[in-house]
Amino acid sequence: MTLRGWVRTARHSKGVSFLEVSDGSCFAGLQVVAAPELENFETELRHLQTGCAVSVVGEVVDSPGKGQRFELQAQRIDVVGTVAEDYPLQKKRHSFEFLRTLAHLRPRTNTLGAVFRIRNAASAAVHEFFQERDFLLLHTPIITSSDAEGAGQMFRVSTLDAGDPPRTESRSVDFGQDFFGRETFLTVSGQLEAEIAALALTNVYTFGPTFRAENSNTSRHLAEFWMIEPEMAFCELDGNVDLAEAFLKHVISRVLERCPDDMAFFNERIDKTVLETLQHIVDTPFERISYTDAVGILERSGESFEFPVKWGVDLQSEHERYLTEKHIGKPIVVTDYPATIKAFYMYLNDDEKTVRAMDVLVPKVGEIVGGSQREHRLDVLERRMTDQDLDQAAYWWYLDLRRYGSVPHSGFGLGFERIVQFMTGMANIRDVIPFPRVPGSAEF
Ligand code: 4AD
Ligand code: MG
Repeated sequence: MTLRGWVRTARHSKGVSFLEVSDGSCFAGLQVVAAPELENFETELRHLQTGCAVSVVGEVVDSPGKGQRFELQAQRIDVVGTVAEDYPLQKKRHSFEFLRTLAHLRPRTNTLGAVFRIRNAASAAVHEFFQERDFLLLHTPIITSSDAEGAGQMFRVSTLDAGDPPRTESRSVDFGQDFFGRETFLTVSGQLEAEIAALALTNVYTFGPTFRAENSNTSRHLAEFWMIEPEMAFCELDGNVDLAEAFLKHVISRVLERCPDDMAFFNERIDKTVLETLQHIVDTPFERISYTDAVGILERSGESFEFPVKWGVDLQSEHERYLTEKHIGKPIVVTDYPATIKAFYMYLNDDEKTVRAMDVLVPKVGEIVGGSQREHRLDVLERRMTDQDLDQAAYWWYLDLRRYGSVPHSGFGLGFERIVQFMTGMANIRDVIPFPRVPGSAEF
């Protein structure tokens, strides 16, 4: 066989050189045995070191050595690319912080290689899940003029001269002269456009990049992340929760099936509980409780939280983690949050105080899915937008959907990096995306 890849480790002894070569296709590298008979043994092969690129032709044989079943007995090894003296990845373990500064080289490490294979398997599982159920993949825009969450956390997209922009008579920046003739931003969510499609095609989903200009320097927030957003017409909150549960279970079980070696590595080296947790999640029904009950549990917990809990406050990460880790020990779906802390588009319950929201919380990560039944009644939606100081004119087409054949509909968003973080047990979300974008950092 022919193997082309990069040397992970090289052991040179007098009579023979052992190279562990990886092409990234799976967790393990392949041991290559280079005997002195090879014509370039003395001139090149004995100098091979971590990071060199090689092309090996040889025969796969049973390995007499420990640690591998097979090895590749080389008949010919071409050195395709040597490494400069200062190659920064050595055999020793590097910290993930250090590796972040080397995002161009870190895919060659065990951990990041495994993370990227898991991202790949999970992405395939996402499409598989929805395609099997006849959901239609929808490509929603990345540049948009509407704030899907109504939260004002968007990155501006502009081609105006930042140093000397055109001004209106009132001296404010004249975005009428900008590229699109109006203010535009990077999208925070494809939901509103997914709703458009659901109200014609019934069941749709998106899987795309989303952007949040929130100054959150945490281990669970990125400024650019990938989100999967299904949207279903003729579907209320319960159906939405059912879909989220089936979806999470599907993605997790497919990753367990397709990436056993990578998962074994995470379980051994990163988080010793990860396999057990994932299997437990696949096997047990999620717990469902209302926000009101969740607040009751937290109030009675006797824990001293940094942010005190009372009805009406948003749940903080410490509360989410208490509920899912200590109280229940499995994923929990919290529904029916106070209207005042949730987005304008959520369906208002008859109590006029809560909305049909749902957050799925999992151990360690906290919120992994956020979604809701949507407000499909025009008058209620208009009222909610007024309450939240949103300009109805800017959302004219969204309101139109409530005037032409409106139906109950629901959807949710899964943060792709959150589920990858959850499945791998990686402590920081920056280490589960190839090129993390966070406040103060956008190298590469
Ligand atoms: O709860 P969020 O903000 O909900 C929405 O965007 C809705 N439009 C989704 C919908 O109903 N279609 O975000 C959804 C999920 C969160 O639960 C979380 O997993 C992830 O997106 N998320 C982030 N992931 C990484 N970094 C961030 N800054 C994130 N913000 C949200
Ligand atoms: Mg949310």
